[in-house]
Amino acid sequence: MSKCILVTGSCGLIGSEVAVFFARRGFRIVGVDSNHRAVFFGPEGDTGWMRDRLQRDLLGYRHEATDIRDRERVLTLMREVRPDIIIHTAAQPSHDKAAAIPFLDFEVNALGTLHLLEAARRFCPESPFVHMSTNKVYGDRPNTIPLKELETRWEYNDPAFVNGIPENFPIDQSKHSIFGASKVAGDVMVQEYGRYFNMPTCCLRGGCLTGPNHSGVELHGFLSYLIKCNVQGEEYRVYGYKGKQVRDNLHAEDVARFIFEFVRAPRVAEVYNLGGGKDNSCSILEAFRLAAETTGREMKWRYIDENRIGDHICYYSDLRKMKTHFPAWEVARPLRTIFQENAAMWESRLLVNRMTPRTAAQNEIRTRPHTTSLSKAEPICSVLVPSCDAYSDLWRPFFTMFWRHWPDCPFPVYLGCNEKTFSHTGVEIIHANHGTNWTNRVRQQLTAVPTPYVLLMLEDFFLRKPVSTQDVIRHLSTLVEVEGHMLRLVRRPAPVGSPSQHANTAVIEVGEPYRVSTQAAIWNKATLLALMRDHESIWDFETEGTRRSGNYTEGFYGTLTDVLPYGHHVVEKGKWFRKEAAWCGKADIGCDFAQRAIMSHREDLSWKCWKARSVVLNCIPWKPRLALRAVIARVDRFGLVLRSSKKA
Ligand SMILES: NC(=O)c1ccc[n+]([C@@H]2O[C@H](COP(=O)([O-])OP(=O)(O)OC[C@H]3O[C@@H](n4cnc5c(N)ncnc54)[C@H](O)[C@@H]3O)[C@@H](O)[C@H]2O)c1
Repeated sequence: MSKCILVTGSCGLIGSEVAVFFARRGFRIVGVDSNHRAVFFGPEGDTGWMRDRLQRDLLGYRHEATDIRDRERVLTLMREVRPDIIIHTAAQPSHDKAAAIPFLDFEVNALGTLHLLEAARRFCPESPFVHMSTNKVYGDRPNTIPLKELETRWEYNDPAFVNGIPENFPIDQSKHSIFGASKVAGDVMVQEYGRYFNMPTCCLRGGCLTGPNHSGVELHGFLSYLIKCNVQGEEYRVYGYKGKQVRDNLHAEDVARFIFEFVRAPRVAEVYNLGGGKDNSCSILEAFRLAAETTGREMKWRYIDENRIGDHICYYSDLRKMKTHFPAWEVARPLRTIFQENAAMWESRLLVNRMTPRTAAQNEIRTRPHTTSLSKAEPICSVLVPSCDAYSDLWRPFFTMFWRHWPDCPFPVYLGCNEKTFSHTGVEIIHANHGTNWTNRVRQQLTAVPTPYVLLMLEDFFLRKPVSTQDVIRHLSTLVEVEGHMLRLVRRPAPVGSPSQHANTAVIEVGEPYRVSTQAAIWNKATLLALMRDHESIWDFETEGTRRSGNYTEGFYGTLTDVLPYGHHVVEKGKWFRKEAAWCGKADIGCDFAQRAIMSHREDLSWKCWKARSVVLNCIPWKPRLALRAVIARVDRFGLVLRSSKKA
């Protein structure tokens, strides 16, 4: 039985990242979240969309809408689940909000934490208990460190803090804000349960934690909110300190990676300052510059000459204790990457807002009953692997490589098949009973996909290198912006039409081969369905569909580089390529070689000859090449030179 983790606040920024991270490593997740974020911040803070996503994407995810203030419910749940690990991220997280709701703030942050600690002590005292605390427990005391004013930021002017704020920095006798004080209560109680009861507890005093899953609002989630303002052209308000106040920023996945290291080698009553450190720090003015460089849009902002109560002037974490205790951990996402990921996500959300009414109406999206309609944060695109049961032995290696190289794929992922069942975290099955009849089967699968755009990926092309989510989203944005029909994400073949005004894409002209592509291409689902005819094989669909696509004079594009980095396909005419089989066997990615034959040396050689022939043919520009093919087809009555080679 796999290990069970109880994650409180599982629909928030940190909780959801932790849930996904551990689920991908085979843990069972019990998520506790009462959606109080919507109570604190109104509809903009609603995390119901994330609950739906976790339930859809994480195999065996169990959601409990328990309010951690409910002592009896927490005790009952802990007694029933007896988790192997507890990760407590549920909180009222806003500094500014707390003063308006002091009772609720304290009940959630302090009392709720005590409920969980006591429940853990009674029912699973050996289980590591990781608590998300905050750097606000230091109150405004970091502001007493001498500072120097640089052109764009404040900086410590005391050599003792050249590496940042360490864990032994005093926490009392300073102004914390109501939020900081309730977090101090929780933090000290977590340490006490460690020291007093010898439980493996740990407080992580976070700096600015962020990532593309953050639903940043003005009162919480500075970087996410700042980038949102930049992307949406809205004004950002700077409160005091000349905009030179410094924050260190850490990606939520780096938080999850640290927790992973800690629970593997837990310690008692530990405290760590978990931030991005000096290297990942920036002032607000510097963040404006980085945001503008990332998105190409100037930041609109207004200065208010009054700082937030208790706000730090300069804060970055000293990471030396963490790195000494857990040398395998490091900050994996540099600041620039954090900006890029956040910007890409806000751009895609903005896109959804712009297009939802038009596309929904025009494309007549059919939504499956259990799927929520497109909301602000819902993706507009899904990945569909249109397979059939005869290829089921390739599913496990395909998805192993998929998640290894694209762990932050932001889209729901569907596997289309006939009747077989298959379970893999992050993959939903769509059954379609049309045997090997490619178009009828895929049509049924497409109809079940709830998004207006679909990225098709074939199961015998395994990802071999990391995919940049940001790149994929940018290309998706391009396709949506130009209201295009298809954008192929690999340059096989390279499009020869005029370069589009969008970077890295070119037009695929009417008549160009493979204008209709079935793999590694983002499709407007409505067009893809419109181009399909009954009873076509995948090969027929690509050739005949390409011909039919002539009805659309424009709207087909290809990229000039491989945005989805595939290697060679692994199977041809139902058999493994020798070289690919050897590589996959060594890579230990779940291939079952008893299910499918490997090509003989002769078959392998014969395929290489065909390949060499097409390499030569492809050197000829496509128009004369098609003319030549037509001539050959006329004389090559036995199909010796031209033949189709794909599975149905
Ligand atoms: N995000 C940051 O920049 C940051 C920085 C430092 C520390 N932290 C700490 O990390 C933790 C997580 O922060 P986050 O940014 O993910 O916050 P978040 O608001 O995104 O997530 C918190 C989740 O807890 C849930 N929740 C709130 N009250 C609850 C209750 N009574 N019962 C059950 N669920 C409840 C909310 O609905 C929300 O989904 C918090 O303790 C926060 O103080 C965050």
